[in-house]
Amino acid sequence: MFKKEIYVERRKRLAKDVGRGLILIVGNTDAAFNYPNNVYTFRQDSTFRYFFAHNLQDLVGVIDCDSGEEYLFGEDVSIDDIIWTGPVASMLERANEIGVSNSGSLKDLAKMVDEAIDTRRRVHYVTPYRTKTINYVSSLVHIKKDYVPTYCSVELMQAIIKQRSIKSVEEVFEIEKAIATAYNMHVTMMKMAAKEGTYEYEIAGTMEGIALAGGGPVSFPVILTTHGEILHGHDHSLQIKKGRMIVSDAGCENDMGYCSDITRSVPVGGRFDQRQKAIYQAVLDAQLLVPTLIKPSVPYSTIHLAAVKRLGEGLKNLGLMKGDIDAAVAQGAMGLFMPHGLGHMMGLDVHDMENYGENYVGYDKNHKRSSQFGLASLRLGRELEQGFVITDEPGCYFIPALIDQWKAEKKCEDFINYAEVEKYRDFGGIRIEDDVLVTADGCRILGKPIPKTIEEIEQVMN
Ligand code: GLY
Ligand code: MN
Ligand code: MN
Repeated sequence: MFKKEIYVERRKRLAKDVGRGLILIVGNTDAAFNYPNNVYTFRQDSTFRYFFAHNLQDLVGVIDCDSGEEYLFGEDVSIDDIIWTGPVASMLERANEIGVSNSGSLKDLAKMVDEAIDTRRRVHYVTPYRTKTINYVSSLVHIKKDYVPTYCSVELMQAIIKQRSIKSVEEVFEIEKAIATAYNMHVTMMKMAAKEGTYEYEIAGTMEGIALAGGGPVSFPVILTTHGEILHGHDHSLQIKKGRMIVSDAGCENDMGYCSDITRSVPVGGRFDQRQKAIYQAVLDAQLLVPTLIKPSVPYSTIHLAAVKRLGEGLKNLGLMKGDIDAAVAQGAMGLFMPHGLGHMMGLDVHDMENYGENYVGYDKNHKRSSQFGLASLRLGRELEQGFVITDEPGCYFIPALIDQWKAEKKCEDFINYAEVEKYRDFGGIRIEDDVLVTADGCRILGKPIPKTIEEIEQVMN
């Protein structure tokens, strides 16, 4: 964990921003895998970790905005627990480690919340995303579970988002550690992808092992597929064959819980053919344009549109698109090739704070989410600020079902050369992704550069 002063400062700011009442920050519990004693790898709630550090089960942090007191609630372990889990610090020791003066049991917490409700104080909680936590919060605040989201504290959520959106130097350092591991994951992938006949799961499994050996799990299930047109394809059952591109979208968490999220796309066998080179370069040109545009005050939706325009120009040069590309972008034609957004925030969550709802995290009153296919999937549309860590991840995909639908509807036929697109039906997809810090006057691509140009990739693979 960071030094305790960092957590003290974060909580102080949170209390100040929320203003009044009792703030509950509920940590995660274990989740049963196939029976209660065999559980999934524990994943702490990111906001709990941000303010109360401990990567342990069944803890609740409380900040009393009115008195300034802070509490860590949970159960001290008994000798029965110690036999199975080894010695653990007491609740008070854990509290003190992070600069919290008070500790208590979950029964004490229930009593404190009851008293707050009885005296008509505001009890702030955020909408939980796990059923177990919804049930727990429901019993704690005496609200039927269906209404737990209705009465969540928007003030608390906004104060959390405001603080977590801006990454400190220490946080960026941790993110770069996670990217260093992602570097090894992707370079290893490139070497393994040189050998035709390898199974996708051999590569995906090796990458996951590198993540674990780097101190944390993967930050989301590895996407490693020769069917890159399936945007989040988690099937790894195929043998890789020459002629196909591999989309490898994978990252890890470091031991502090900070994430990386990197995508590289490479040709099976290690040499791009002409068609692969052409599409790859069109995506790369769009991806490289993005850091030249990133700076504070620019809405990310504007950069998304600039990136898809650059992609459209590349596709026009290849005969896949035609006409005026500005008009094509305005009418949503790029959605056929890139039906996802350019990127998202990243931090303690790979899609940072997405549990609070993308519209709270990625949009605001001045920047509303578009309903246009493709642009509607952009998770971050609002103005960038110094300290944001975001992803830059354009892609180009040939999705047979989507091509069929658009062609049948004659959608955007002034801009899409369907006869040419048909020739790419079996192409798959390409995505390229890096993690970027917004600085005072521009940005910095985080981590050691991971091979990305056609030449660099072919060199690693051969
Ligand atoms: N890993 C999913 C994404 O890039 O957003
Ligand atoms: Mn990704
Ligand atoms: Mn991403």
